[in-house]
Amino acid sequence: MERKMPSMMMQMQTPQDLFLHELGDIYDAEQRIVQMLPAMAKECMDQQTQSAFQQHEQETRQQIQNLEQCFQALGIQPPQVTCAAIQGLKQEHDSFLKDQPSDVVLTLFDLDSATKTEYYEIASYAGLIEKAQMMGQRQCASLLQQNLQQEQAMAQQVQQLEQRLGQQAMRVGSMGQQSMPGQQPMPGQQPMPGQQPMTRP
Ligand SMILES: [Fe+2]
Ligand SMILES: [Fe+2]
Repeated sequence: MERKMPSMMMQMQTPQDLFLHELGDIYDAEQRIVQMLPAMAKECMDQQTQSAFQQHEQETRQQIQNLEQCFQALGIQPPQVTCAAIQGLKQEHDSFLKDQPSDVVLTLFDLDSATKTEYYEIASYAGLIEKAQMMGQRQCASLLQQNLQQEQAMAQQVQQLEQRLGQQAMRVGSMGQQSMPGQQPMPGQQPMPGQQPMTRP
């Protein structure tokens, strides 16, 4: 039978304290992410991206439940932790909106932001799983493993979507205005027939 963790004030003296802190951090992160995903799905112009975000919102709800099961198995309440990393990514997103990005640029930005989020989650879960295994918390380790696998799949999916949309955007030249001065056009970046040549102000 798994040993129950004592529920007491967190003092950050032992690797177990760190484990609980990091579990609290990802629990806070997932709750922020589950709120961000529907908004990101709505503002994206690409249907596949929208459904990827919607599907991951459902997965994230399951991930939150898995984390709650972890806390239950450990016999503790989730500690109060603020995940400043995901809070920061949300702030970056909100301030980017003020620059009035085009639909395609906003979609690409959201895919970038999702990739950053997934890699944060992947690193967090990998570290947590290692600690859970070292502590002999097998049930926790397997719940966290389920979350990790979903994050890995999502990271791969958003990167593929970004690659496809990015290439499409380059082809139609809609990102050409962001070219650096003196930069050679990318292969396939020639203006479409009837399209205005790209000039910088
Ligand atoms: Fe997640
Ligand atoms: Fe995720």
